[in-house]
Amino acid sequence: AEFTANEKSIVSGVWAKISVNEIGPQALARVLIVYPWTQRYFGSFGDLSNAAAILGNSKVGNHGKVVLNALDKGVKNMDNVKGTYAALSKLHCVQLNVDPDNFRLLADCLTIVVATKFGSDFTPAIQATWQKFLSAVVIALGSQYF
Ligand code: HEM
Repeated sequence: AEFTANEKSIVSGVWAKISVNEIGPQALARVLIVYPWTQRYFGSFGDLSNAAAILGNSKVGNHGKVVLNALDKGVKNMDNVKGTYAALSKLHCVQLNVDPDNFRLLADCLTIVVATKFGSDFTPAIQATWQKFLSAVVIALGSQYF
């Protein structure tokens, strides 16, 4: 994907308002609650038996921060999103065996958490650009699958 200067500034603007430590845990928890089959990858994380357990699980919280911190690299490298996530794509494919369809589920949960947090500031036009960016990340994370 190619991004205009305006799109880059919109994505940077959204990113600047995101608290990784707050939004990361919420986004990962939502994926695990809304799409429970994603729990299969997190067998070492302990109790994921219900929504309250997932929301209170510190391993989920910590990993949500790790995932969202990885997005920072993409925001800062919007001219080369694919290259930025090549190694991470390989890791999710070869080591973790994560079905790449799940990347979009996480992206969508992240957008919902952001929309909930920012309310009417998250206009349709901003959402469109934000999702275009997340789509590029999702495609990049799937790019090394074979
Ligand atoms: C690990 C990023 C989506 C499953 C990781 C790590 C990062 C990361 C940075 C740590 C890698 C390392 O230790 O070197 C991302 C990003 C995602 C994404 C940016 C999408 C925007 C997903 C999804 C799943 C998943 C959707 C499964 C449904 C895992 C698992 C680990 C992992 C199981 C290892 C966790 C552990 O045992 O510590 N991911 N991830 N990831 N990811 Fe992802």
